[in-house]
Amino acid sequence: MKAAGPAAADQYGLAGHPVDHSWSPFIHGMFAKATGQNIVYRLFDIGPGEFRREALRLFTSGLRGLNITLPHKQAAAELVNELTPRATRAQAVNTIAFYEDTTLLGDNTDGAGLLADLEANLGIDLAQKRLLILGAGGAVRGVLGPLLERPLRSLMIANRTPARAKILAAEFADLGPVEGCGFDDVEGPPYDVIINGTSASLAGEMPPMPPGLVDEDTVCYDMAYGRGQTQFTRWANSLHAARTEKGWGMLVEQAAAAFALWRGIRPDTKPVLEALARFR
Ligand code: ATR
Repeated sequence: MKAAGPAAADQYGLAGHPVDHSWSPFIHGMFAKATGQNIVYRLFDIGPGEFRREALRLFTSGLRGLNITLPHKQAAAELVNELTPRATRAQAVNTIAFYEDTTLLGDNTDGAGLLADLEANLGIDLAQKRLLILGAGGAVRGVLGPLLERPLRSLMIANRTPARAKILAAEFADLGPVEGCGFDDVEGPPYDVIINGTSASLAGEMPPMPPGLVDEDTVCYDMAYGRGQTQFTRWANSLHAARTEKGWGMLVEQAAAAFALWRGIRPDTKPVLEALARFR
């Protein structure tokens, strides 16, 4: 009788456009090794408008789970047949789990990832703080609910298209003191925390902001990540912000939460954060 070969690895991946610079395969690879899970994690570049068809094709050909990034987070929320409460709130999905009974469950781990990074990794206490968040797209949708669970003094959403910020603020107003406006309408006094959730820095851009929003007590966090400075951290540093941070920790923490949903094991994020520190 032939001996059984090693079990085939369970397949996971990231869907987005573009995805070629993603660190997710590295991060999930480290989690899998540390927790003894037999998985492979691949990148799937899926163009706008193709998400539904391509994702269904991947799941029917054996994929067990998918992370979703720009520009498909809202399309992913429409595709799944079940949403976790936090994904329902966000109406944006960054993690799908495909179960044997053919359920496609959509979750959103972005907010938990941001909060874990801000609070546990960076030691920032959000209680009674005034927050400004730039952007009103899928990335921001995912983090508003978890941010508003904290006892913030206020949360202002500012966006290039002011109407999108106002609509988003109205959608989350039952959770806490949130308002929306355009970039020109943001006023001081300087904020305690400013979070960049626009995709502008991916294009090497920083929206023009009025003066008086940053002082030496302001923490500035770019949800984008990459090597060196972003236009947002450059802007914050030029205004002498207390500290500037990029979204590496959020990336690792949201990945850990996705891994836990898929595999039922919560990986330790510290070794991965340390490994990535070399590339920041
Ligand atoms: P994501 O999933 O990353 O949030 P998205 O839903 O396409 O992607 O949203 C992109 C966000 O970045 C939006 O808030 C967008 O502003 P608009 O709502 O006005 O489109 C913002 N954005 C993109 N490029 C920008 C730029 N060059 N300057 C300012 N804001 C920008």
